[in-house]
Amino acid sequence: MINVELKDIANLCKRRGFIFQDSEIYGGIGSVWDYGPLGVELKNNVKARWWKSMVYDRDDVEGLDAAILMNPETWKASGHVESFADLLVDCKGCKKRFRIDLLKGKECPECGGELTEPRSFNLMFKTQVGSVEGQTHDVYLRPETAQGIFVNFENILTSSRRKLPFGVAQTGKAFRNEITTGNFTFRSREFEQMELEFFVKPGEDEKWYDYWVNERLRWYISLGIREENLRLREHQQHELAHYAKRCHDIEFLFPMGWSELEGIANRTDYDLKQHAKISGRDLHYFDDATGQRYTPYVIEPSGGVDRAVLAFLVDAYRVETVRERKRVYLSLDKRLAPIKVAVLPLLRNKPEIVEMAHRIRDGIRGDYRVVYDDTASIGRLYRRQDEIGTPYCVTVDVDSLSDGKVTVRDRDTMEQDRIEAARVKDFMTEKLDLS
Ligand code: GAP
Repeated sequence: MINVELKDIANLCKRRGFIFQDSEIYGGIGSVWDYGPLGVELKNNVKARWWKSMVYDRDDVEGLDAAILMNPETWKASGHVESFADLLVDCKGCKKRFRIDLLKGKECPECGGELTEPRSFNLMFKTQVGSVEGQTHDVYLRPETAQGIFVNFENILTSSRRKLPFGVAQTGKAFRNEITTGNFTFRSREFEQMELEFFVKPGEDEKWYDYWVNERLRWYISLGIREENLRLREHQQHELAHYAKRCHDIEFLFPMGWSELEGIANRTDYDLKQHAKISGRDLHYFDDATGQRYTPYVIEPSGGVDRAVLAFLVDAYRVETVRERKRVYLSLDKRLAPIKVAVLPLLRNKPEIVEMAHRIRDGIRGDYRVVYDDTASIGRLYRRQDEIGTPYCVTVDVDSLSDGKVTVRDRDTMEQDRIEAARVKDFMTEKLDLS
């Protein structure tokens, strides 16, 4: 069950500094977003957990950070120039544009006007490289990070001396000139992907496909998304991308309904064969064990960082009544929370208390985000930290000065523990479980 509307999440994100509309002072630009002080922490934490599970916790994956701009032949070979398009119609009356696959009737859903014949609209953004007039070349902003991995297949294979099966992981920006936007960051024109291309021996692809579907579902659950808010949906034949033999979406119950969070596709040997054909390079794999040469198959778990961030926020949003007052808190997994600890003085006009609180903050910061706040009453300070999902608040009071103890408050249970100030660092290391 999801008990929040997208507008409440968008509101919280703006008010507390998670996500802002891009270039808002100029009226913004459609479906482009900026991550604020808390958003950048949350997003970095999501990417770090993905990288850990894909690269550090395994011994069969290498990392890559390829460029956004690529030789435009890449996109001819990949099929994106020809096939990465939506069929669109325009309303002759109100001039609005619609994706034909999302229309229910034959008239304009906004004004009932007559629609034009469908036209194909490529979603890639085009720009130019070169500074000499008349000698520029059209290039595209990559619409997926995956192609950077395929064109580097040979480089990575040779430099890492890998044997199949092995994967290449990459996070990075992707760009699509989306027509149907809205729903906050869900469908953005500039967004980030986290993609793994896992190269396997043909014939072993189905086994690895099942493995990655389960593994990716498990990852979201391991970071706190409730199982009942996730489901798998297999693509029907007509929905499959031009390169895919099979695809499962991991869907999340977003406030607007079940929608794609991540796709796991069997891309077969399509991309490597296409690049070999168009570039003229030999992209076969030589299997020493069998003496065979073949083009590997690829299993691709491809997730959106922005959609993951949105899903983690939506799933964590909780409202309850405590002593007849509304309490809103984000029950984010501690490893994802933007701020891990807030150190709060009970009395801000008592210098010894403020000094002790500063000492505690200085002693624990360094490995994660810690804040000090004395700008309101303690009740209000707790509510502020609850609303942004800070797992622990450490409060210094008058007694702390004599007994050397502080109060540690847990975000979810609101239980308070009295512990030695000198033990706060170890307490956090143990509780935050950042390994
Ligand atoms: N390389 C395969 C690929 O790009 P995709 O299903 O088009 O497949 C993968 O995209 C993931 O990227 C999606 O599951 C989604 O999480 C994210 N994504 C795609 N388009 C997006 C958009 N316009 N805004 C935000 N995220 C998007």
